[in-house]
Amino acid sequence: MVPTAQSFDVVIIGGGPAGYAAALHGGLAGLNIAIVEKEKVGGTCLHRGCIPAKEFLETATVFRTVTGAKEFGIAVEPPVLEFAQSQARKQKVVNQLWQGLQGLLKRRKVTVFAGVGTLYPGKLVKVDDGTGAGEPTELTAETIILAAGSVPRTIPGFDVDGRFVLTSDEVLALEKLPGSAVVIGGGAIGCEFASMMSDLGTQVTVLEALPRILPGCDNDVTAVVLRSFKKRGIDVRTGVTVTGHQPTAEGNATTVSYGDGETITVDAVVVSVGRRPLSDGLVASGTGVEVDARGFVVVDEYQRTGEPGVYAAGDLVNTPQLAHVGFAEGMLIIDQVLGDNVVPVDYTKVPWCIYCHPEVAFAGLSEEGAKAAGYDVVTKKDAYGGNGRALIVGETDGLVKVICEKTADGKAGRILGVHMVGPWVTEQLGQGYLAVNWEAVPEEVAHYIQPHPTLSENFGETILALTGRGLHVG
Ligand code: NAI
Repeated sequence: MVPTAQSFDVVIIGGGPAGYAAALHGGLAGLNIAIVEKEKVGGTCLHRGCIPAKEFLETATVFRTVTGAKEFGIAVEPPVLEFAQSQARKQKVVNQLWQGLQGLLKRRKVTVFAGVGTLYPGKLVKVDDGTGAGEPTELTAETIILAAGSVPRTIPGFDVDGRFVLTSDEVLALEKLPGSAVVIGGGAIGCEFASMMSDLGTQVTVLEALPRILPGCDNDVTAVVLRSFKKRGIDVRTGVTVTGHQPTAEGNATTVSYGDGETITVDAVVVSVGRRPLSDGLVASGTGVEVDARGFVVVDEYQRTGEPGVYAAGDLVNTPQLAHVGFAEGMLIIDQVLGDNVVPVDYTKVPWCIYCHPEVAFAGLSEEGAKAAGYDVVTKKDAYGGNGRALIVGETDGLVKVICEKTADGKAGRILGVHMVGPWVTEQLGQGYLAVNWEAVPEEVAHYIQPHPTLSENFGETILALTGRGLHVG
């Protein structure tokens, strides 16, 4: 018997941030929504990305805090890391959020189908539950959203074996951290893992192919991170090519070859060279959905694929691979389904937050980026060393830098970028993000005061300095 397809308003393939944001947003508006998910709703972000990684970075913060407690007059024994307990706590946080998300989806009457979804012509989605029993479940809808996410990229010579060669997926599941590690790739994931593992006792070497780590960050920001990494014993080598690795005769370590015949022997290799979209087998032939050579589903600024009624969002499309960008894209699609007027996401101004120590956060152009884009700029920066709150919490490495377009009379005009590095900057970026996206000028922002004593005074002071009225910064 030919199964009859179940009909919905929207069928979403993939229950990560892009998919579940679309489902929650649409469900609230009364749309009848189905999600097809092959693992757990929450996706990479919740189970193998943002949440577990930040949880371990918090473990590193606690370790640093306890180690430095004596300075505050608190005598403690040297702390001992029990990573299995850290792992258990991380899992508790993840599980709690996962339960919460499942409850939310249920309350918004979203139906979750377990299995692998494939899009066929005629906006038909077949769900293979992997049991091999019976026919796949068939779903149809006026609107289909492809949100299948991404997986870690790998490189030749470094097959992921879970023993010597790990990606973020494996690191986040470790019961014990390696004594020493090479991190290949100094991007967001590489720097977060290098920072976390180093703080928790691993001897870390970062090998980055480009001349600098943290591509996209302002040079002044990268310099602060590099200084801190160096101080904490993280060896960062840039402009190097890795060629392969060979486990030692004893079998308890592996030797990584890189550069001009150089080698380093370590307990583990963490490969963090980017993530690739998970589009394999997602779309059957005969639809208008285009997948490019790198595997990204091709969409326009409204997330529309070449097939009418079929959209794509999140890491599957070639936009910044950030959970909050996925949220925004998923909601943008639903708003169109609801007939609202929508404004596409401006990818040049989304917030970026990297949770290594010290933290990095920015929105808009760096000084180098602005110059490369042809702007004459005026910049000011304010270091945390003079900030009362930073001194109180004992975290003075870092700065706030604001990049403005130079006006005809040489003054600071439209704010093009706000770049921060230092204590809790991921929580401080908000007003910088608004200033950039509102295309505000310093005079406008300077009108508003900052609470004292706070870390956010550095942003206020940098803005004041751009108006020529800085209290501390000239
Ligand atoms: P990435 O693209 O940010 O960085 C990868 C780095 O690896 C680059 O610097 C690249 O030059 C380098 N690289 C590539 N091939 C190499 C090779 N063979 N040898 C040495 N270096 C090599 O990718 P990453 O860090 O893996 O993160 C993946 C995605 O997830 C990114 O889009 C990132 O923005 C996002 N993400 C964001 C986070 C955040 O915002 N806090 C945290 C984690 C991930």
